[in-house]
Amino acid sequence: MSNEHTSQPASGASDTFIYVAAALAALNGLLFGFDTGVISGAFLYIQETFTMSSFVESVVVSGALVGAVFGAAVGGRLADRIGRRRLILVGAAVFFVGSFIMAVAPTVEILIVGRIIDGVAIGFASMVGPLYISEISPPKIRGSLVSLNQLAVTMGILVSYFVNYAFADGPILALAQDVLGAAGWRWMLGAGMVPALILGVAMLWMPESPRWLVEKGREQEARNVLSRTRSEQQIGDEISEIKETARKQSGTGLSDLTKSWLRPALVVGVGLAAFQQVTGINTVIYYAPTILESTGFNNSASILATVGIGVVNVGMTVVAVLLMDRLGRRPLLLTGLAGMSLTLTALGVAFFLPGLSGVVGWAALVSLMFYVAFFAIGLGPVFWLMISEIYPLKVRGTAMGVVTVVNWAANLLVALTFLQLIDVLGQSWTFWLYAGLSVAALVFTYYLVPETKGRSLEEIEADLRESALGSETTGDAFGSGSSTDDD
Ligand code: GLC
Repeated sequence: MSNEHTSQPASGASDTFIYVAAALAALNGLLFGFDTGVISGAFLYIQETFTMSSFVESVVVSGALVGAVFGAAVGGRLADRIGRRRLILVGAAVFFVGSFIMAVAPTVEILIVGRIIDGVAIGFASMVGPLYISEISPPKIRGSLVSLNQLAVTMGILVSYFVNYAFADGPILALAQDVLGAAGWRWMLGAGMVPALILGVAMLWMPESPRWLVEKGREQEARNVLSRTRSEQQIGDEISEIKETARKQSGTGLSDLTKSWLRPALVVGVGLAAFQQVTGINTVIYYAPTILESTGFNNSASILATVGIGVVNVGMTVVAVLLMDRLGRRPLLLTGLAGMSLTLTALGVAFFLPGLSGVVGWAALVSLMFYVAFFAIGLGPVFWLMISEIYPLKVRGTAMGVVTVVNWAANLLVALTFLQLIDVLGQSWTFWLYAGLSVAALVFTYYLVPETKGRSLEEIEADLRESALGSETTGDAFGSGSSTDDD
């Protein structure tokens, strides 16, 4: 009934359009990665401009995470009300304003306001990027296209490392200060205005999500969008499938999320959201130089190794993009989590051994690199992809918002507790704690996370509905949660 096995559109329409639209929408990911990554480097120089108490310091650093929690909370409902495309436009404007305020902030209070505004935009971007791409994609390549957004996140993080490095010292900083007359950190934080502007302008030319349009009764517009990438026959099939699915639903409010047939999907989303963060990835992304210095590397070697970590993150996410629709989500997630459990255990062992230098220092670095690689092939992209696939159209934005709030709140929790954990537990036990949580995530995934590869969003929704009926007697979420492949 659906068109998943015939992705070639007729009459001159082509997949190129989808690739371009997905790549442009992935600028959401780039901004998300850049704006979360840039602060670690910029912070050192902000300290030279403003005197801050340690509380104010931590607000400067984590203010964006607080903003992101809020942005995700509001963004979900907004995506369902005003549409995916318009939310991306609003988000781009908010990114631009936030970055501008940070760049020119005369006082630390205003800097914090800018950080929080920027964080709100990060919260929007993190959910609406995957959502938009998922809804414009044909099922056959949806996994790869949505994962482009996570690829852009990792590229944004890498770019932020380079920008930090460039402005940290040397000729570019001198140019910024002497010729352009502003401290390096202002340039670092202001740099986000450029992709925000590109995203905003590009989205003016991009269409709305056809699924959202059908849901709002704007069928003709939806047909026009689909006609750019699907044949006439495919459009007819797809529209009736979306309509049929939408017809079965009611309501769009938060209260609709409590319906019992949605519970399995919420458990999967909330679980993956929390596990993606509490298994510790951002302690590496945000604190890599600190971790590395304690393994005996000097300052510049640590910065270089941090760039290496960023490169591994990007490289393995490319591999994930290529494999996502071939192997499926579950195999990648399970492999990634198994690898994270092992490498985190090894990292704990490296810190446990006496004489953290030489061979042991290198062992720690290698474990860290592999840990990031295993995250990048599984939990990194699969979480953002899955939550754009497993919720019914009517509440998709709202549900993604809820789950994304959990992700950012868990991110904040880890950021605020990591240094304390190291004080209290020591480095080894901190990493072993993350290892234990990775094992828990592995078990959770094995039993509860469904495979969504190759199915239309409407088929996934129908499965969810049917298996919920079935589960009233069998107690089995998503029919057979542990099946790996079925096409
Ligand atoms: C994912 C996570 C984010 C993390 C990034 C690292 O997007 O959600 O918190 O910083 O991966 O690549």
